[in-house]
Parts: sequence; C-alpha cells; structure tokens
Amino acid sequence: MQTQKIILGISGGIAAYKTPELVRRLKRRGAEVQVVMTRSAGEFVTPTTLQAVSGKPVRSNLWDADAEAAMGHIELARWADLVLIAPATAEIMSRLAAGGAPDLLTTLCLATEAPVVMAPAMNHVMWSNPAVQENRQKLERRGVRILGPAVGDQACGESGPGRMLEPDDIVAAVMKPIAVATAKPGSMDGKTVMITAGPTREAIDSVRYLSNRSSGKMGYALAAAARDAGANVILVSGPVSLTTPDGVTRIDIESAKELFAAVHDNLEGVQIFIGAAAVADYHAASASAGKIKKTAGEMSLDLVKTPDILASVARLSDRPFTVGFAAETENLREYALGKLEKKNLNMIVANLVGPGLGFETDRNAVDVYWRDGEMSFPLTDKEELASALVELIASNYEQTLHAETQTELPVIAVRD
Ligand code: PMT
Repeated sequence: MQTQKIILGISGGIAAYKTPELVRRLKRRGAEVQVVMTRSAGEFVTPTTLQAVSGKPVRSNLWDADAEAAMGHIELARWADLVLIAPATAEIMSRLAAGGAPDLLTTLCLATEAPVVMAPAMNHVMWSNPAVQENRQKLERRGVRILGPAVGDQACGESGPGRMLEPDDIVAAVMKPIAVATAKPGSMDGKTVMITAGPTREAIDSVRYLSNRSSGKMGYALAAAARDAGANVILVSGPVSLTTPDGVTRIDIESAKELFAAVHDNLEGVQIFIGAAAVADYHAASASAGKIKKTAGEMSLDLVKTPDILASVARLSDRPFTVGFAAETENLREYALGKLEKKNLNMIVANLVGPGLGFETDRNAVDVYWRDGEMSFPLTDKEELASALVELIASNYEQTLHAETQTELPVIAVRD
C-alpha cells in the first residue's frame, strides 16, 4: 500500500501534549508525518520531541528561508494526502473559517487540495459558544471534517464536550482505507444469519419517542454482504428509510422490547447473530396513552432499562455465534473489550460515533476484537466494510466450530 503523507498541524491547546503519541501511532500505521506547529503550540509541546518521533524537522515559520529552500510551503501543501489539525483551538478554527493565512499552518490549509480534518479541543463553554459553532458549521460546509470533540473531564477542572479525541481514535478515523478482503461467495453458504439494524423508538406518549441517529446503513450493508456470501439472512430492523436488500427476510420492530421479542421468536436455526442495531438503553417507565399536555412547570421523565438483546442471545445455552457492535465517543478499545467480556460475545465491532462518525454517514471505520485477535478497518464505504466484516466473521465462526470439534471442553459453544 502507498504511504499516506500527513501534515499534522498542532495549534496551542493543552491537548498538544498528546501529539507525540499521535505521531507515533500514525507512523505505526504506515503514515509519513510532517509536523507543522503554530507559535503557541510550542508552549505545550517541544519541536525537539516532535522531530524525534516524526523523524522530520518540525515546520513552524512561514518566513524560515532554510526550510522554504528545502520544501516551499506550496510544495508542502501539494505533498500532503491529508492535513490533520489536532488539537484545533477556537483560534485556528476562526482563522480558517475566515479564510485568513497569517501563518504557515493556515497558509497550507488554503494552498492544499488534500482533505482537511480537525480534532477540536477547548473548554466546553468555548465549544458551545455560537461564534465557535458558526465557524464549525462554516468549515464543515466547505468540506472540512470535524472529529469530536469528546465529552468528559477537562484540563480546566470542568466537564463537558471539548476534549480532543484520543490519539487511537483520531488514527482510526483518518487512516486511508486499506485493501480489505471482500466476502467470498460461499463463505457463509447455507448458514442462517440474523442481523439487527437501525434505531429503536421508545414511546413517551402517543406522538413522542426517544431514539437515536442510526440510519440502518451499516446493518443493511451487512445483510446484503451476508446474503452475497451465501447466507439466509433475517434482518430485524428498526424504523429506517432503506430498501430491503433482495432475498433478505425483514422483520420490522419499533421498540427495544419488540426487538427482543422478534429476535427470540425467530432465533431457531440461526447460526450467526450480528447486533448492529442502536438499541435504546432506557425507555419511559410508563408511556402516556394520549399526548402529554404542556403545563406551566418543568416536567421530568422516569426512565427504566431496556432488555439487553445482545447479552440475552449470548447467554443462551445453545447460542449462535454472537457478534456485537460498540458505539463509543472515546476510549474505543477499552470500552469495546469491556463489552466483549461482559456480554460474553464471540466478537465485537467497535466504531466511534459523533458528528460525521459512525451514525448516518455512508462510510465507517471500525476496530474488531475477539478473544485472541483484533483487526482494524480504516474509513471505507459501509458496503465495502460490511463485505470485509462478513468475511472475518465467517472465518472466525468456522475456527470456533473447528476448535469445538478438537476439544472435549469447548471454550465457547456455538450452533452449527
Ligand atoms: O445505522 P447507521 O447510521 O449506519 O450507524 C451504524 C451504527 C453506528 C448504529 C452501528 O455501526 C453501531 O455501532 N451499532 C451499535 C450501536 C449501539 O447500540 O451500541 P452500544 O455500544 O450502545 O451497544 C452495544 C451492543 O449491545 C450493540 O450490539 C447493541 O445492538 C447491543 N444492545 C444495546 C442495548 C440493548 N438494550 N440491547 C442490545 O442488544
């Protein structure tokens, strides 16, 4: 695979201390990284450290005659396959939204034809400020991809949306698609596969509900890929506006409770279960039969937990090979491994979700974990990704069956 050439622009925020690790991780995934720092970034991380980890002198000054003689800024802008700004402060977002070019980094952004991606990091009140949000929207309208920010504890001691995504999460979101294996015709021949997809809707009253942004694209792409691999596919779907893939049996549900019932009523003979639906974790304790009337005062809603469909399938004594998804806004690996263990799954497909990530979009990047392995699939079309996932799931399923026939005491029993 051709090396991906990345300009990593670092602006002056406390999260800049994470950038040496970000450079290491990008390089570990085969990228060539040229660091460009703004003047204030140097307050948080040293050029010496970044030069050591990137293996290239750091660029920071538009007027550095020696550096310009080696590679002028226009040449540098053309060299890049991607410009990644992490952390992106409110200031750099504002400069770029205004189309200004007062320094090397902003000049490169104007002069490049490569995609520009930003991982904002700032105090949560700053992030919510209408001026910052207007700049974000302006940049997004021009095609800049914004990653995060994550929600959580901040360096200032407060908590909220504004943390830069973790280096692993940024790397997963920006690395170019690798050549992924596509589902071989026949790799799921004759198997019965059940896939859940889309959101659930949890009624609050007769006209309102709690839901999420799932479009169903990931689950439907998996259904089509499993069918292409020879499986009989049962697709249990929340409310989406997608066409059922030809040859796939679709069962429509609305709530998590209905999903639970539809899955368990149709599970007989299912050998592989894939939970790609974004199931609500809570529903209203009691949904009102009519429309709740607005009153002068505030109102609060009592929520109770929904049944965990995935965990309930994995708990069955004669369970299918069970694959879950994990949708996270940070700490992807840690949380996904936690769900793999806690829900007793065979595999888990972990994706970052947030603005422009995972939900609704046509492309996705995932990390897949199982007991003795893991594999990353960088950003690619959901159809192509689904095909690669089906291939990986089929091969792990076969290995599990094989392991069972080799041992008296199977580690995980799955249906054949
Ligand atoms: O539909 P798209 O717009 O294409 O977006 C795809 C996606 C982001 C929805 C998909 O890739 C994805 O991540 N699906 C899982 C979303 C989710 O609910 O994740 P979770 O981490 O909250 O749940 C973990 C797993 O438990 C999931 O397999 C989920 O289906 C399952 N679950 C969760 C709660 C519950 N009550 N029952 C469940 O079965």
